Amino acid sequence: MNQCSPGTAEYSGAMIADLIRTYRHGGPLPRAFYCHPEVFAADMDRIWRRYWLYVGHGCMLPKVGDWLTWQVGTDSVVVVRTKSGEIKAFHNTCRHRGARFCNAEKGNGQAFSCPYHGWTYDLDGRLTTRTMKDFGVAESELGLHPVKLRDVGGLLFIALGDDPVDFDQAHADIAGRMKHQGMNDAKVAKAASYTVKANWKLVFENNRECYHCPTAHPEYIKGTFDVLRAMPSQVDRVARQTELANARFRAMGLDTGDAWSGMTGSYWRAHRTPLMEGWKTQSLDGTPVAPLMGTFRDKNQWSDGTLRTTVFPNFWQHASDDHAVATRIAATGPLECKIDVYWLVHRDAVEGRDYQLDRLMPFWQRTSEQDWFICEANQQGVMSSAYRPGPYAKELEANVQHFVDWYLGELGGKPPLRAVAGA
Ligand code: FES
Ligand SMILES: [Fe+2]
Repeated sequence: MNQCSPGTAEYSGAMIADLIRTYRHGGPLPRAFYCHPEVFAADMDRIWRRYWLYVGHGCMLPKVGDWLTWQVGTDSVVVVRTKSGEIKAFHNTCRHRGARFCNAEKGNGQAFSCPYHGWTYDLDGRLTTRTMKDFGVAESELGLHPVKLRDVGGLLFIALGDDPVDFDQAHADIAGRMKHQGMNDAKVAKAASYTVKANWKLVFENNRECYHCPTAHPEYIKGTFDVLRAMPSQVDRVARQTELANARFRAMGLDTGDAWSGMTGSYWRAHRTPLMEGWKTQSLDGTPVAPLMGTFRDKNQWSDGTLRTTVFPNFWQHASDDHAVATRIAATGPLECKIDVYWLVHRDAVEGRDYQLDRLMPFWQRTSEQDWFICEANQQGVMSSAYRPGPYAKELEANVQHFVDWYLGELGGKPPLRAVAGA
C-alpha cells in the first residue's frame, strides 16, 4: 500500500467491506474506523472528495483579490473574490511542476505568483505570465484546476472531486432558512483554531447528540431544551415553549421548528430551535451580546431562537438573532482534525462599542473546547485494547446512529470501492 500520504494512500476495498460487516447496529463503530490509515484513505475518497465542504463565509472575502486557503487531507484550495465580484475556488497546485503557489492562510492581491519559477495566474485562474516560452503547450491550456463552489445564503461550500453528491436540495433548504440570518452583511469578529487529536467521525458523532451535555456542558444546557425534551417531567413544558416559539417565528415570517435537533435532509439539517424561556441569544446568561442581524435587524425584533445548520462531514453553525458561530472541520489524519471556529456579527458592529469579545465568545468557546476535550478522551479510550462498542441510547443518541448509518452507506456504496491489486 502506498503510505506516502494519508490523502492519497490507497485502500483495500475488500478490507473496508469486511470491516463494514463487523459493525453491529445500535452502537459505535469498531476501533479500526477511528484509527486505521486505510479507513482514513477511504474516508477521503468516499466522503471528503464526494461531499460538499464548508470552506468559509463569503463575507470573509469582502474585497476584490481577497483570498483564503484551506487544507483537507493533502488537498489545499484557494478561494478568491474575483474582479467581477464572484467568488471562485482553485486547487492550490501550480500547473507547471505542481508547487503550492499560495502559502499563507489568507491575503489580498491581484494575481497569484508561484514561488518556484514565477508562473503567474490572474484571479480567474488563467495563466498570464511565464518566465520562459519554450514549453510547447499554450498558456490557455494551463489554467488553475477549478474547484466547484456554491454560495448558500452567504456560506461557501466547495467540492474537491469532479463528481460530487447532489447538493440542490440541501442548498435550497439551507439558503431558504439562512436568508433571515444576515450572513452576507456579517463579519468575523473572532476566529479560533484548534488541533484536536481525534478522528473526524468522533468529533461529528459528539456533535450529533446532547446526551453528554449535562455532564460536559454546564453553560450550554442552561439555554436549550435539548436534554429537557427527553425528560418525562419536562415534555409538556418543552411542547408549550415550542408552540409559543413557533407562533412567534410564524408571525415574523420565519420557518418554524422544534426542540429536537433532527435532520431536515439525509446529510444536512437547517433547523430553527427555540431558546430557553427568557433567553434572547446563546450567551452565558441569555442576554444580547451584539446588535441584531439580518431580518431581525430590519424589523428590530428578536425571535428568541437559533438556526442550527449542519452539513456532513465538516460543518455546523448556530445562528442567534445577534451573532452566529460557525465550525469548520478539516480531517488531517486518522487521529487528528484541524477545527476552526468563527464568531460572526453584523459588519457595522464595532468591538468595544457594540460587542465585547469576552461576552460574545464564552458560550460557544467553552462548549467547543469542552467538546474537543471529550472527543480526545473518546479517541484515547477507543485505542484501549479493551475497547468494545457499547450501546447507544435509543432516543438521545438516535442522531449518532443516523450519522453512522450515513457514513457506512457512503463508505460501502457505489461506485464500488477501488481495490488495491492483490487485496
Ligand atoms: S512549479 Fe510553479 S512555476 Fe514551476
Ligand atoms: Fe458537546
